[in-house]
Amino acid sequence: MLILGIETSCDETSVSIVEDGKKVVSLSTFSQIEIHKVFNGVVPEVASRNHLLKIIEVLESGIGNYPLDKIDAFAATNGPGLLGSLLVGTNVAKTLSIFFNKPYIPVNHIMAHMYSPHLENEIVFPYIGLVVSGGHTVLFLVKSFYDIEFLGSTIDDAIGEAFDKISKYLDLGYPGGPIIDKLAQDKEAIFLDEFEDISLPLPDKKDRYNFSYSGLKTAMVYRLKKLKVNEKNIKSIAKTFQELAIKHLLDKTLNALKDFNISRLVISGGVSANSFLRKELSKLKEIEVFSASLPLCSDNAAMVAGRAYIDYIKNPDFFTKESLKSQAFSRLSFIQKGKRIV
Ligand code: KG4
Ligand code: ZN
Repeated sequence: MLILGIETSCDETSVSIVEDGKKVVSLSTFSQIEIHKVFNGVVPEVASRNHLLKIIEVLESGIGNYPLDKIDAFAATNGPGLLGSLLVGTNVAKTLSIFFNKPYIPVNHIMAHMYSPHLENEIVFPYIGLVVSGGHTVLFLVKSFYDIEFLGSTIDDAIGEAFDKISKYLDLGYPGGPIIDKLAQDKEAIFLDEFEDISLPLPDKKDRYNFSYSGLKTAMVYRLKKLKVNEKNIKSIAKTFQELAIKHLLDKTLNALKDFNISRLVISGGVSANSFLRKELSKLKEIEVFSASLPLCSDNAAMVAGRAYIDYIKNPDFFTKESLKSQAFSRLSFIQKGKRIV
């Protein structure tokens, strides 16, 4: 089954054709990073306007010479994301679906991210799923593609957002994650003594699977104000922040792996590209870790078309023209920000 997927939830305009949820036949992505760089972050209004400007060009290159009437279904990310941006992708996919009389499959962005490592790996269930991006930091217990239990999430900022904010504070540029990651890898970078007293957030047992990045960011900024930031210590500042942020991520993820006696971890989302995260995970010999290759970590349409296939085969009869008319934006009601263990 060939599905054409469209992703426009944030600052990537992406189109992909995927066969049977596995084989990426084509993938074309336009990143708006250069456009948003001057604002030091994504400006929603600017993002939606640029999706509108780019979507046809990306669609044409994503399809290549492939005849559209050979596509079996059309899918798009329908949330969560920036509403104006989501409207562009969903409306193009719905229009194609009506024109070619093929099903329209709306896809949840978080589920799409979590599917991305499945495009390139055979992954056995159950596993702990960790989605880490600019907008999300969520832990799941995944028993099958259709049996996914929410464990915890950030109670404030997402980890990628924290990387971006610290980078902005240090005037390093946008997006902050890859910039900080690169600086931290310098062999001269060390963990600075001035930050030694910062403890990892949310130690309470009730928050075993929750994250918090806002306090960590403030603690960093507080100390940075006292420290003279210069060319000499900037790499060490990057390394210090990165280590604290990733250690907090690992702390909560290991809680979940231990509590559910699971030795398989699937990481996805833009921050799953982080080199320190990957290095630390590779040291855990008893845990099998799956991730997507770097181009599939950040927002892309292949993960959308892939997850669409999984949703479609479960209940093909659901995806009628009538269901298309009643599709609102997707929010996973089982994701409860700040849910505590009682
Ligand atoms: O998944 P993604 O492309 O878009 C969202 O759905 O948010 O993730 C983007 C986020 C940004 O915050 C970016 O700074 C972060 O992922 N990121 C990284 C790295 N590469 C991208 N964070 C840490 N280390 C990286 N290597
Ligand atoms: Zn994303």
